[in-house]
Formats: sequence, structure tokens, C-alpha cells
Amino acid sequence: MSPSKKRYLVTSALPYANGALHLGHLAGAYLPADIYVRYLRMKGEEVLFVCGSDEHGAAITMRAKKEGVSPKEIIDKYHELNKTTFECLGISFDIYHRTSDPLHHETAQQFFLRLYERGDQFEERTTEQYYDEEYQQFLADRYIVGTCPKCGYEEAYGDQCEKCGSALSPLELINPRSVLSGKPPVLRQTTHWYFRLDKHEGWLREWISQGTLDGRPHHDPAKWRKHVVGQCTSWLDQGLQPRAITRDLDWGVPVPLEGAAGKVLYVWFDAPIGYISATRRWAKDQGQDWEAWWKGEEVQLVHFIGKDNIVFHCIVFPAMLKAHGEFALPVNVPANQFLNFEGQKFSKSRGWGLEQHEYLEAFKDFPNREDALRWALARNLPENRDSDFKWDEFVEFHDKELADNLGNFINRVVVLTNKYFGGKVPALSGPWTEILAPVRQLARQWSASIEDFNLKQAALLFMEVSSWGNQYLQEQAPWALYKEDKQHPRLAEIMGVALQVAALLSMMAEPYVPFSAARLRKLLGMGSLRKGEWAEAMEALDAGMPILPEGHQIGEPQILFAKIADRKDDSRLKIVEQQKAKLKALQEKAEDTVALPYPPVAPQIAYDDFAKLDIRTGTILAAERVPKTDKLLKLTVDIGIEKRTVVSGIAHQYEPEAVIGQRVLLLANLAPRKLRDILSQGMILMAEDKEGKLVFVQPADPTMDNGAKVS
Ligand code: 2FM
Ligand code: ZN
Repeated sequence: MSPSKKRYLVTSALPYANGALHLGHLAGAYLPADIYVRYLRMKGEEVLFVCGSDEHGAAITMRAKKEGVSPKEIIDKYHELNKTTFECLGISFDIYHRTSDPLHHETAQQFFLRLYERGDQFEERTTEQYYDEEYQQFLADRYIVGTCPKCGYEEAYGDQCEKCGSALSPLELINPRSVLSGKPPVLRQTTHWYFRLDKHEGWLREWISQGTLDGRPHHDPAKWRKHVVGQCTSWLDQGLQPRAITRDLDWGVPVPLEGAAGKVLYVWFDAPIGYISATRRWAKDQGQDWEAWWKGEEVQLVHFIGKDNIVFHCIVFPAMLKAHGEFALPVNVPANQFLNFEGQKFSKSRGWGLEQHEYLEAFKDFPNREDALRWALARNLPENRDSDFKWDEFVEFHDKELADNLGNFINRVVVLTNKYFGGKVPALSGPWTEILAPVRQLARQWSASIEDFNLKQAALLFMEVSSWGNQYLQEQAPWALYKEDKQHPRLAEIMGVALQVAALLSMMAEPYVPFSAARLRKLLGMGSLRKGEWAEAMEALDAGMPILPEGHQIGEPQILFAKIADRKDDSRLKIVEQQKAKLKALQEKAEDTVALPYPPVAPQIAYDDFAKLDIRTGTILAAERVPKTDKLLKLTVDIGIEKRTVVSGIAHQYEPEAVIGQRVLLLANLAPRKLRDILSQGMILMAEDKEGKLVFVQPADPTMDNGAKVS
């Protein structure tokens, strides 16, 4: 394993500087990226990790308005808060930039002008848009609220209904009103520039589905997550339209054209260019060439984001980069799904969830607070489906895995090496390389998993190596040999093997729990981790050489992980209990005060009416999107006696890949009906919660056959 000639430019989504970030954000785009870059660095790769604050857009100006301060005050406050919080959690950005930097404005304007000058990438359109006469300004989508035409929710925004999730345009809202004055806006003509995304559909389709660019292989599409490709394909299937990339606003990057006074670049046009300006700023500060990180065959651009940003990073920004020319396109966009918090979505308004800085504050007296959180999130990353943060698991992962498994192994190795060999690595003898073969195999799998963005799996492999070490010591029982004979010849072999495993673990810990890794290395007398040390260690083992050589002096025993649920000291567990109590109180309050917005029970029916329903247990065998809709999935359902084709309106919440294998209940004697030319033969039963989330109703016992009748 040696480093490649590639240059990895790794980005994490630039968070809006309009508020603090919660644990879901951390698990979505920042921790995974940090795990990946820390690994690449120890493998010896050239890596640049950039991020920063997204400081434009209506999100910022609205927050400023709410707090009665200037946008500048808002961005300064939250930029600083987010930057320091990331630092504290060990997110190792090479630069945490900001889009209010004049260098960013210059970069974004140059980018815009290059596309403008090409002549065929933009089109100017004059349209009618909502205008607030009292405030004398055009209204950004988020500044208009009204009734959602799809679900009737009265507080839908001009770009999206947060109740039913539909994407909207302001003109679709029923009874629109301005957020500024509260009055109905009027329509006024305005001119904007539209990016001809439609012209990029052809190559984007090939690039997404085949991984080819300009007829040459660009990336391995099989390595992209299914839900990422699924979302892109569904967008492409709907057909790409020109998108307005300028706005009438006084906050943002001014449009660099004559006659464009009062207009700025749309925030989603300038924000991803923020990755470029961050690189430029970093290079300027370091006296390096920024272009080397963006241009050329060896550039490996990887964007870490949450699933709500997929389209911008996989379709819009790549199209912008291609239209500009010269820039590299992402080789992967390992977008994560969402993290929930104790079974519910994070919600600032309901107080549900925990912000990063709140966590750090609550656990300020817990010495291992950063790694405890990193580990709990890494163990449960929402890589392919939404996952859930649970306080009980937070305690369990820390105490059982970091403390009992890893901490215990390292402690045994250090104690025994000190006792038997005065803390010096003994001369390795016997078949130690063969003994280590399974560990080397696990370590290789670990590397491959990280390189494939299976970071949760790699976390488990890391623990497996530690379990292997514990089991090895348990089976070899060097203490028994020592009792028999203090100079027992096998002691050196056993402790030599265990020490090499400990050394490997100190490196495998680095991407996940870097603070503990540093303590662990100190304990093993290994000094700070060097760039490329992982690759060197693996090469050494493959060549039959040890990582820790004979005579290497390790440190004195020291407890690495103080447990949270510690019988002698309940201070840490108390904090967890307080957090749980806070949630319980919130839950009870919500149950007391919120009248459930569920419809009243329908009028009575006779038993005979019910008996007419023939409901069967089934399993979804295949699923695909119905072209040109964003709601419908075409499903093949096995109901034991036969297979049915069913069209189901769940595509806005379920990716086709995610429902294959799902057990369902099917209303099997519903009259067939044609939907988009497909004959739908039945209806899948779903339950819908207060937030409009749809869940499958399925037999509670998974061994129940398909075809069983529900009555
Ligand atoms: O969704 C968000 O929080 C955006 N601020 C992400 C921007 S990512 C990139 F384009 F900068
Ligand atoms: Zn709606």
C-alpha cells in the first residue's frame, strides 16, 4: 500500500452562518469528511480539506431581521461559533473560509463573467416576480409565505412546503403574503440571468450513470451511493430547465455587469464557488498554487454533504464547472442521509436535538467528550439510510467499545510489557507474521472500506482488530506462562504480536477518535502520527518487519477511557440522564399541548363493509421510479399467490432501492386503475404521521408468509 500520485481536494458543505450546527450536521457532512481526510493523510496522500461559512442568501438576512441586527453581525457571530466548535471537535479543515471574503466575491464574479462571456451558457429573461411595495423590494422565495397548493398548509414558503416537502415556486402559493410587511405582494417585472442547465443534460446523464466524461472513464459509478445516483437520475428524468442564478437583493455577491445594480448572484451559484475561493485563500496564505488542486488529471474532488444538497453538488455545480472549463469534477459525492435524535427529526423550534456547542458545554467536565461524540456518531452514520442518535447507545458505544474493548486491550499490553520486559518491545520470535495475518487482512479491509466511503463499516473493523487482540491475549494467557517461568520463551512472541496490534490500533483510532489516538500513541511511545505512517506500517508488516522494533520503549500504564457509566463516579452518567430528562419533559409537554392534527375518525361502517376488503401480506420485489413524476414508484409485489404491479405515491419519501425487500400489506381486491399508463393492481397500506411522513404497515412477525389474509 503506497500513496498514489493523486491530489485529494475534499470539501464539506459550507454551512449557512445563520445559526449553530447540531449533531445531525456533524454526522452528515463534517465528521465523515474528517475521518476520510485523516485516513488519507496517514496513508501519505496529498490532501486539502476545505470548508467555510456560506454567508449569503435569504437565510442570513432573515435571521438578521429576526434578531434586529445587521447581516454582518449575524455572520460574524455564527462564523466564529461554528469555526471554533469544529476545531474543538477535531474537524481538521486546512481552511475554514467565508464567502464574505472579498477574494470570494472576486472568484464568484470571475466565474460568472467567464460563463457570461461564453455567450451560450446564460439567457436573460424578464419575468414577473413578487414585490413588497411597503418595503420597496423584490421578495426572495423565502420572503413569501402562503398556502401550499398541494397540502393546504398555510405557512408554506415560496420555494418549499415544509409540511409536505413539495418544491414550490412563489407563484404557486395561494394567498401569498410578504414576510416583511405581512401584506400581499404585487407582481413586478424584473430581469435575471438563467444558467442553461438544459444544455448540460446529455453529458450529465452519461457522467452520472456510466461515470464517463467526454467519452473517457472519469469515476467508478458503482462506488457512488445508490440514493445519490437515484436522486440525480430522477432529476435528469424530469428534464433539466434553465435556472435563475441572480436575485434582486442587497446582500450577496453583486452581479458584475453594467445595468445590474441591486442584483446579486443567487446564493446557490456563489456558495459552491466558495470551495474554489477557500482553496485560493489557503494557497495565498501558504504561498502555493491553488490551480494545482482544481485542474489536472490527478485532482480527486470529493464533496461531503447531506442528502438535501445532492442536486446542487451532482448536477448544478458540475454543470457550472464544465461550462467554465478546466476544472475537475467530483469523483464522488458521498452524501449522507439524515440523523434523527432519539427517534425524531431535529427541530430548533420544538427544542428537539442538541447543537454541537451545547453538547461541548454540557459535557465540559468529561475529558473524552470530543471522541465520545465522534465515536457515537461514526458508529451510526446515516450513510445509506436515516439513522438515530440515542443517548443509551452513546454510553454503550463509549463504554463497551472504546473503554472495555480498546482501552482494556491497550492497558493489558502496556501493563504486561512493563511487567515482563521493563516496558521494552521484546525481540520478535516465532511465527509472528503468520499469527498477525488475520489482523493484516482486517487492516486492509479497513483501508478499503474507508476508501469506498463505508466509514461505519470501517469503524466496526477497527473494533474487530481490538477484539482480535483481546481474544489473542485471552487464549495465549501470557500471565500463566509467566507464572510458570518468568523467562518463558513464548512471552516475547506473544507480547511482540500484541504490541504490533496495539501500534496498528493507535493508527486506526486516528480518523475516528483522534484525541484518544494521540494519548494512545504517547502511551506506546510512538510520538505524533506522521504523514504516510499507515502506509509505511502496512508495508513493514507485509515485508515481515515489525512496526514497533525490538528495544522500543513504551510508557507507563494509564487509563485511556474513563467510563461514562462508572460505578465509582456517576458525574458523567448524570449529564446523560439530564439530557434524557430534558427530552422526556419536551415530549410530555408536546403531548399535553399539541392537539393531534389527525383527521377525526370516519363515519361508522358495517362489518360487511370491512369484510369486503381483501388485505394480504406481501413483499416488494422490485421498484422503479415512474418517469416524469416525483411522487410515483412502480412496484412489483409478491403476495404469495401471485405477483402484482402497484403504483404507489411514495417516491418523494422513499428511494426505489430502499423499498426492495420491504414487507407490506396490500389491499388486493381494489379495482385496478391506470396511473401514467401503468395498470395498478392494488394498494399498499401506509400510515402517515403528523409531519406527513409515510411508513409501511407490515406483519409484525417477519417469518409470516406472503399471501396471508389480514382480517
Ligand atoms: O444547505 C446549506 O447549509 C448550504 N449552505 C450548503 C452550501 S454547500 C456549498 F455549496 F457551499
Ligand atoms: Zn404542502
